[in-house]
Amino acid sequence: MRADKQTSWSYTEALPTEDEVLLRARERSYELGVSAVSSGVGAALTVLAAASKAATVVEVGTGAGVSGVCLLRGLGRNAVLTTIDSDVDHLRAAREAYAEAGIPGNRTRTISGRAAEVLPRLTDAAYDMVFIDADKASFPLYVDQAVRLLKRGGLLVVNDALDHGKVADPAVREATTNTLRKVGKAIRENENLASAMLPTGDGLLLAVKTA
Ligand SMILES: C[S@@+](CC[C@H](N)C(=O)[O-])C[C@H]1O[C@@H](n2cnc3c(N)ncnc32)[C@H](O)[C@@H]1O
Repeated sequence: MRADKQTSWSYTEALPTEDEVLLRARERSYELGVSAVSSGVGAALTVLAAASKAATVVEVGTGAGVSGVCLLRGLGRNAVLTTIDSDVDHLRAAREAYAEAGIPGNRTRTISGRAAEVLPRLTDAAYDMVFIDADKASFPLYVDQAVRLLKRGGLLVVNDALDHGKVADPAVREATTNTLRKVGKAIRENENLASAMLPTGDGLLLAVKTA
């Protein structure tokens, strides 16, 4: 008998092998109470960063740097990650992870502040990739800002887009779940975006800005 989808899903999530740098960043995430991307999402971020050949990336929700290290490992040598977090302790831990990963300091721009205040200060159509992983209630605002920030051909990546399996269950009417349903629908219906949902982690929503 063939394995069911849940078994295949767990199997693929367990495939990536993480090195000491990522394992230490995960440990710091745990100590700080930060929920880092899953190893499957981390591997997908590295592949997406490499495939997109992005030179300029914005991340909303630095955490302790797990996703940042995964992104930076896929990006080219001259690419710069601009990453935003409202918690200075998280940013400090992330800088430690970047240093341990051997990332030169000039390849990361860590910005302390609330994303809703920082994103509007970033330049229009100047970024190749935007990764959103903080404060789900504000995802609609972050997605609007991301579409403004992306160049044509740029890639939007939204983490936790299936809200721990709740988006797919019509009986769940929680505010955050409803917000994520609306965000998914708005992205699917935006004729300037080509989108796809990867069932990786808790759902990785991808969209390319086509016009
Ligand atoms: C899910 S964690 C990010 C994990 C990180 N992407 C990783 O995989 O390593 C969310 C982060 O967003 C930050 N955060 C929460 N609300 C925020 C806001 N309004 N603006 C900026 N950062 C925020 C938290 O401090 C936390 O570090």
